[in-house]
Amino acid sequence: MRKPESKTKAMRFAIAIMAAGKGTRLKSKRPKVLHAIGGKPLVEHVIRAAAQVVPAKDIVTIIGHEADMVRKAVEHTGVRFVLQAEQRGTGHAIQCAKEALQGYDHILVLSGDVPLIRPETIAQLRDFHLQQKASMTILTAVPDDPAGYGRVIRRTKSKPDVKAIVEQKALSSAQNKTEREINSGIYAFAATDLWANIGRLTTDNAHKEYYLTDLAAMLVKAKKRVVAVKAQSDIEVLGANTLAELVALDADLRMNKCRQLMAAGVTIFKPETCTIDAEVEIGADTVLEPCVQITGKTSIGEDCRVRSFSVIHNSRLANGVMVRPGCILDEATVGGGAILGPYAHLRPGSEIGEGAHVGNFVETKKTRMGKGSKANHLTYLGDAEIGAGVNVGAGTITCNYDGVNKHLTVIEDGAFIGSDSTLVAPVRIGKGAYVGAGSCITDDVPADALAIGRARQAVKEGWVKARKSKGSSQ
Ligand code: UD1
Ligand code: CA
Repeated sequence: MRKPESKTKAMRFAIAIMAAGKGTRLKSKRPKVLHAIGGKPLVEHVIRAAAQVVPAKDIVTIIGHEADMVRKAVEHTGVRFVLQAEQRGTGHAIQCAKEALQGYDHILVLSGDVPLIRPETIAQLRDFHLQQKASMTILTAVPDDPAGYGRVIRRTKSKPDVKAIVEQKALSSAQNKTEREINSGIYAFAATDLWANIGRLTTDNAHKEYYLTDLAAMLVKAKKRVVAVKAQSDIEVLGANTLAELVALDADLRMNKCRQLMAAGVTIFKPETCTIDAEVEIGADTVLEPCVQITGKTSIGEDCRVRSFSVIHNSRLANGVMVRPGCILDEATVGGGAILGPYAHLRPGSEIGEGAHVGNFVETKKTRMGKGSKANHLTYLGDAEIGAGVNVGAGTITCNYDGVNKHLTVIEDGAFIGSDSTLVAPVRIGKGAYVGAGSCITDDVPADALAIGRARQAVKEGWVKARKSKGSSQ
């Protein structure tokens, strides 16, 4: 049996993201939409929000300035791209996407530099647009300071109907004071009306550009319905045109993240000094001291403490880990109850076992350290496999690199490495073996053996006195 067909055909929506501009006001070599807030490029925030409203294949990102760089940064999201080779304004940007946007009934337009927009708000704009049967629907806000934004002029204050959008530069000084409802740069268009009119835009304005905003008055003149809807919060429609504005948006995102973590049982002292990326996970009863950075896909267990000035990136910490001040962790794994630092540097591939200690000025790289092992002071452990219960004395160095290749050092369970030893890889220290302080170990040491690789000490009694008396006789 055939399913009954629904009476109204489902509306087909596409989202266009304008991301081709240079961002002259940032005074930066980097394209604006690639500047990061919350650890991610502006345009990626916008794409992520859009992708929760329509599938990635229905999202068209318009790129132009440093197009290859922008495309590379976000192509993992699966969106489509359109090139706006010359940036001749927002109206021109959408015109460049016309072909790619054929076959859709409505087009939602987002700005690549308005990054905090939420998927719920995009959906709210879409629904309002459909409900109003509008040709163009403009998302707006009334922020404390409307400077720098185009203003939406309504026919009457209480109705959604719009007369026009007036760009900041075209406002009279009286309008500048009275017109406080800003254009967010986010719109919904009925596709037919959009494509029928976009070719009629002109560059008759301060920047000699094709303004998408001019469509509002143009559609009104053509007796089409143009309406505005306010976003629920101002912050999500704020654009980032200067580095100061970018930093303010970043701070807002970071503070939100801190609030979420605190609501889930994490104590964060002075959260305004902490930088925590969106995807970071932290368990309850963990305490973060002021001035820590936790970025990338880091996860931290419960009952940990991260002391000040530590920087943790893409790492996994189990429960009860103590990170003393000034540690740097990058792609490291740390077992429960381990103690790190102060000033430990765990480089990629460091796997620190349960209850292990990696102390002051100790650097590890591609090194596994077993349960309860300790390297407490001034040590480099690179390309090493260290068993459980090993004691690595102060100043121990694995000489892992011969100038061409890297080699492995193995230290088996319970071994003891005396201070200031160099272990020349490839080399193996057997289970329970001892290495005398100050040794240079070039050959394997069997289990339970003592290896001493240093010059014998010579003592010459009375030598100093003899030398001095010799000197004075000259
Ligand atoms: C625009 C609006 C303004 C609104 C503000 C909201 C116009 C003319 N003005 O101004 O009313 O208040 O956004 O943030 O649209 N872009 C392109 N190609 C271009 C030009 C721009 O893709 O040729 C992109 C930019 O990369 C940016 C977005 O469009 O992501 C907005 O451009 P921008 O120059 O920042 O516009 P505003 O001056 O902020
Ligand atoms: Ca802007």
